[in-house]
Amino acid sequence: MKQQPIGVFDSGYGGLTILKEFIHTLPQYDYLYLGDNARAPYGPRSFETVYRYTLQCVKWLFAQNCPLVILACNTASAKALRTIQQVDLPVINPENRVLGVIRPTTEKIGALTATKEVGILATAGTVLSGSYLIETEKFYPDVKVYQEACPMWVPLVENNEYESSGADYFVEKNVKNLLAKGGHIDTVLLACTHYPLLKDKIRKYLPDEVNLLSQGEIVANSLVDYFKRHPEMESRCSKQGAVQFYTTDSTEDFDTHAATFFGKSIRSEHVNIE
Ligand code: DGL
Repeated sequence: MKQQPIGVFDSGYGGLTILKEFIHTLPQYDYLYLGDNARAPYGPRSFETVYRYTLQCVKWLFAQNCPLVILACNTASAKALRTIQQVDLPVINPENRVLGVIRPTTEKIGALTATKEVGILATAGTVLSGSYLIETEKFYPDVKVYQEACPMWVPLVENNEYESSGADYFVEKNVKNLLAKGGHIDTVLLACTHYPLLKDKIRKYLPDEVNLLSQGEIVANSLVDYFKRHPEMESRCSKQGAVQFYTTDSTEDFDTHAATFFGKSIRSEHVNIE
């Protein structure tokens, strides 16, 4: 039987922090990772552009035989997921599914705050979409969500500057801005899959009692639940524990950087997507 891997998509490297948790929690499945590095970052781009790029990548993953695609990118989940699910999927492949990372995170976040004030650190695109406010309101109407856009953080991570003192300047500034927006924030979410690499720095500027969350584990546990609720999809995903990596940019660059996000070295293949 031909492999039917779970497709994992991000604009670049960030989704590897999610893939790592998928493999940790659900090692039996096959995965195919696609990073659209040639067109990253998506954060500052318009709705129309993020939607167009994401749809092209989803179609490519379907063509590689992925029955299920996870948008392991908050920006793509915020700006493209709903239209792809509601408008495109019924036409291009009604049997397949595309899921994002925002809903599974907001499903859990309200239960993790005692003060009912949550802080979101994200790209400008995710913040402007209002997705975290809208989705959290659905599950936890009593929780207040404060957001801070951190436009310099993805470039710092992508340029391997996330441990530099220059990064401290931007991290301190954005974390302070966020804390100034709500007086009782006790839970801060890294709502961009690149940000776990900045976690130590972010922690430095947060009071000890504030809980700092990355999405990987939450999203991986939510996939476990999804498969329980959807055995028809679970049985379509092949299980040989194989992982393949594709990038739309240089494979050399990808392989060098990817190790930092993924935790071990990998070898990618190049693909053109238009
Ligand atoms: N990693 C992506 C996210 O979770 C953003 C990176 C980008 O701006 O392309 O939002």
